[in-house]
Amino acid sequence: MLQIGDELVYFSAVFLLVMLGTRSATGASILTASLYVFMVMFRFPPVPADQAGRVLRPKAAAGGVPVVAHRAGSHDAPENTLAAIREASRNGATGVELDLSFTADGVPVLMHDETVDRTTNGSGPINKLQLAQLRRLDASARHRLKDKFSGEKVPTLHEAVGECIKQQLTIFFAVKGQTDKAASALHEMYKKFPALYNSSVVCSFEPKVIYKMRQTDPKVVTALTHRPWSLSRFSDGTPRSLSSWSQFWSGLLDVLLDWAHHHLLWNLCGVSAILMQKDFISLDYVQYWAERGVEVVGWTINTVVEKEYYQNLLKISYITDSLLEDCDPRY
Ligand SMILES: *[C@@H]1O[C@H](CO)[C@@H](O)[C@H](O)[C@H]1NC(C)=O
Ligand SMILES: *[C@@H]1O[C@H](CO)[C@@H](O)[C@H](O)[C@H]1NC(C)=O
Repeated sequence: MLQIGDELVYFSAVFLLVMLGTRSATGASILTASLYVFMVMFRFPPVPADQAGRVLRPKAAAGGVPVVAHRAGSHDAPENTLAAIREASRNGATGVELDLSFTADGVPVLMHDETVDRTTNGSGPINKLQLAQLRRLDASARHRLKDKFSGEKVPTLHEAVGECIKQQLTIFFAVKGQTDKAASALHEMYKKFPALYNSSVVCSFEPKVIYKMRQTDPKVVTALTHRPWSLSRFSDGTPRSLSSWSQFWSGLLDVLLDWAHHHLLWNLCGVSAILMQKDFISLDYVQYWAERGVEVVGWTINTVVEKEYYQNLLKISYITDSLLEDCDPRY
């Protein structure tokens, strides 16, 4: 019902705008109708609600809300490593969020940044390193608990998935760009480990990544990640650009993008969840998406007070850097 209401508003707005722009009712009608047909023909229906439920509300969360370790728990162990996955499981996480990246020889591995500098004792872009070179690096080198986790390696996607299945953790695959490579690498994983259909979700800030994933395999549970004002502002709210002109344009694009996320893209991609930056989440916001059959997951929730709010009031899943203590948020 609501979906139809949304669409009516959307297509009426398009019709009015085009008509104002072209002063042609025929032109506006044709364009609006074509857009509608495009939307109906090219959208992916969401996966069945019971499948999405198994992924987003796993049984392991019995009595509480699902808790997902960000980068497998970057505060409690070296991020995106097998040790972090085991540590997250031991500390009661129901899932982990893992960042997909690729080596120079095209092997899917876990790494958040474009370079290995921040987390390992190596340097340079990860896509310039062969897997063999990457494997020689120490993935715990820059972590505050490096002594406890010494000798940890950068894992391949395959190893990480195997470990998560063993630990019965839900996986949130975070994908940045490299649309085609990511979709086919993940599809390979789903073929190798069909249990992933019931225990993982592919997430991205980029709608085209999600669209491509569902085109490659429509049975995969997906989510759009979103932070309003992400094009014009950094996560701490400071403007990205020094020129006021480009700041203005990126701000305008942000308004359009935010509108598209809430009215169009979720439907076109058929996502089952929205991963939203915490400052923009309220009970009303959760309700907005509940009416559309979409779950909200908050990030990054790093203090006890916030966690209690999610647990007791919002009653939705959250992503956190630590299962053990308060810490500064990483985004
Ligand atoms: C990084 O640390 C590993 C393990 O201690 C070591 O074998 C390797 O040589 C180091 N690499 C660099 C570039 O320092
Ligand atoms: C997912 O779980 C359902 C319900 O337990 C089961 O029927 C189905 O076979 C599972 N799918 C896969 C791919 O394991």
